[in-house]
Amino acid sequence: LAADADIEITPRADGDTISPHIYGHFIEHLGTVIYDGIWVGRNSKIPNVDGIRLKFVEDMKRLAVPNLRWPGGCFADGYHWRDGIGSASARPRTYNYWQASLPPGFDHTETNEFGIHEFMRLCRLTGAEPYLAANVGSGSPKEFHDWVLYCNAPVGTVSLAAERAANGDKAPFGVKWWGVGNESWGCGGAMNPGEYATLYRRFITQFPVYEPKPYLVAVGPRGHSKDMDIGWTTGFFENMLPQHRAKVDGYSLHFYTDFRNTREKVGQFDAAGWYDVIREGLRTEEVIDKHWTAMGAYDKAHHTKLIVDEWGVWYPPGEETAPNHLLSQPLTLRDALHTAVSFDVFNRHAGKIAMANVAQTINCLHSLFLAQGDRYARTPVYHVFDMYRGHMGGRLAQLNIRTPERKVPSRNGAVTLAGLSGSASTKDGRMSITLTNPSLDDAVACRIRLSAGTASEARATVLTHADKAARNTFDRPDEVKPAALPITVRGGSVEVTLPKQSVVSIELRLG
Ligand code: AHR
Repeated sequence: LAADADIEITPRADGDTISPHIYGHFIEHLGTVIYDGIWVGRNSKIPNVDGIRLKFVEDMKRLAVPNLRWPGGCFADGYHWRDGIGSASARPRTYNYWQASLPPGFDHTETNEFGIHEFMRLCRLTGAEPYLAANVGSGSPKEFHDWVLYCNAPVGTVSLAAERAANGDKAPFGVKWWGVGNESWGCGGAMNPGEYATLYRRFITQFPVYEPKPYLVAVGPRGHSKDMDIGWTTGFFENMLPQHRAKVDGYSLHFYTDFRNTREKVGQFDAAGWYDVIREGLRTEEVIDKHWTAMGAYDKAHHTKLIVDEWGVWYPPGEETAPNHLLSQPLTLRDALHTAVSFDVFNRHAGKIAMANVAQTINCLHSLFLAQGDRYARTPVYHVFDMYRGHMGGRLAQLNIRTPERKVPSRNGAVTLAGLSGSASTKDGRMSITLTNPSLDDAVACRIRLSAGTASEARATVLTHADKAARNTFDRPDEVKPAALPITVRGGSVEVTLPKQSVVSIELRLG
């Protein structure tokens, strides 16, 4: 085998642990993410568990989904949690920030049928940890603290715990992850960093502490801004004294591959469009590094970790799966490769990133699933989540790839792109390796060498398609799906050829 790429992997006892939470999710009351996507209602003919779409529950369990961020997004800063408790028929109909942008004729209101109890039911059914975003935009510290009490106080303590029990859940919800607002520089209140820092201090002082110990997440920058929004990061930390910074466990970074103001199409593109989207996804790495460095100026020990709680592709409107499916996009093989390179970046920065949440899991921007009535399909993105599962909780190994850079077309003329992207980790005597070949022209023959030890068994899976814009639809749900890929293993050497435009995952048994 003439190797086009030489890859050396060094397992490291001191490698950072890849938090399983990097493979996390985000679901918001937006378009049909919740209603029709996840929530079909208790009396629906669509198979469901207590109103929650059964297929969704089964697939999320299969992925070992680590967490779910809810209720927003922008929606969170207009959401009052009390509207979503008590008898469903008595819940108020309220204003939904997102639904208000639907065309006339569609229902713009929020029914509040899906509230905290329904959300917690979903978490328990799938095994996900809840990550709640508190309303800082139109709420108060009291409303926030009451929500914490309602969720976490044991029965026999405060009255709110008795109220939770009367509403069906005696056992506390045990919520650990709390986001204090969302995009407070935009839909969360259009604040400057100093204003938000003041509110953050007010919201977290007197935070009621029950089990589990809270993990508090502050609003961070719009990372995909041209200047990466470094000013927000320095402005926020500048306005926090050291004792307050100690109470910022996580710092949220949003990074969208934002093509909204372009003519890019989700489902029809040329080579420049293919490479531009993947290259923009890779830019996350620089954004992570820059903010991490800026944070280190205030927090040398790096107590505060990054939470990339919104990431994904965002194309211009016009290709929604249905008129009321606000922000939904039919994702293609290109987006699968974008997912893979993003995960490789997150894995490689495992020491900095405590959590990441794809935006959003179903019927939205970077979704794993499409659902409409009784129709349901997994997108190519779903398969990448599945193929990367081996990294969850693994120890990051050092991966050196030697392969030439490629000259690729771009909307801004020719540019260069790394020949391959990848990451590797070890866990329980196994090694997981993931590699992406973005080339639209060439397969890459790889010779992988373990710098220490041997492998006794190897299994490889590939996700690719002859058509770079291939997608899964309700009628052809398996158009893009993984397949086994031939691989040979001899002692500490592994040989595998990555087809063009492909994502490959490799599992080795070590020793
Ligand atoms: O994911 C869609 C929206 O994008 C979220 O509500 C908001 O936080 C972000 O701007």
